[in-house]
Amino acid sequence: MTDLASLRLPAYPRSAAYDPMWMIEGCMGPNPLWLLEDLLADLPLRTGDRVLDLGCGQGLTSVFLAREYGVQVFACDLWVKPTDNLRRFTEAGVDDRVFPIHAEAHDLKFAKGYFDAAISVDAYQYFGTDDLYLPYLAPFVRKGGYIGVAVPGVRTEVVTPPPWLERYWEHDFAVFHTAEWWRTHWSRPGQVTVLSAREAPNAVENWRAWSLACAEHGKTEFVRRMSTETVEMLDADAGRTFAFPLVVART
Ligand SMILES: C[S@@+](CC[C@H](N)C(=O)[O-])C[C@H]1O[C@@H](n2cnc3c(N)ncnc32)[C@H](O)[C@@H]1O
Repeated sequence: MTDLASLRLPAYPRSAAYDPMWMIEGCMGPNPLWLLEDLLADLPLRTGDRVLDLGCGQGLTSVFLAREYGVQVFACDLWVKPTDNLRRFTEAGVDDRVFPIHAEAHDLKFAKGYFDAAISVDAYQYFGTDDLYLPYLAPFVRKGGYIGVAVPGVRTEVVTPPPWLERYWEHDFAVFHTAEWWRTHWSRPGQVTVLSAREAPNAVENWRAWSLACAEHGKTEFVRRMSTETVEMLDADAGRTFAFPLVVART
């Protein structure tokens, strides 16, 4: 059984201060706080910045951004009800600066230039591989602001799943790309200036450790079963295929 204390990783000192069970119950995939800490190494935030957290899920990253960086967060999500997120933000004591919003990524109701930064952890892949998406999103960020995403991806581009992953491969994995693919995707003239596109360090090992903890400690049968399958898939892969690209650009 995973000792929950082992999930307080020295590599993520800010995340380590958060209750591992709060993270297990609130995350909807790989630990979003670890990915966010990695992402923010390349994306400077200032106290008071207005940040769009796009695809925030149950809002772990939104709470973290408000508490750790003193920013205002517009916590936007499609599948999770904002009323449920409001309860979590109130419990976390950040409801005065984290605003829960039901939003579809292609139909944002904000003013152009409103945000200092737009951030998305484990969600941008659902809509952002479309060539037309970044040109839609970027104008909501002020000139000189930042867009940063952390997404599940691959080490080299995959067209046909490798044989050892055939039984695990899902149609959705078609949106998994390399960090270099994302760099090219965002580098079209007139869009944004890409500052970095790199793989999160140790992300697949961390994903396995996190999934194992969720398989053992997850609250629902669904979470435990999905997490167990993820561990099996990662063991079959043995580090050959998956990665977590982190991409940061300036508008
Ligand atoms: C895998 S979950 C990750 C949630 C959260 N960021 C986390 O890491 O726990 C992906 C999230 O993306 C959101 N999402 C997917 N498609 C979206 C869209 N078109 N517009 C807004 N949000 C979307 C879903 O609502 C979901 O909460």
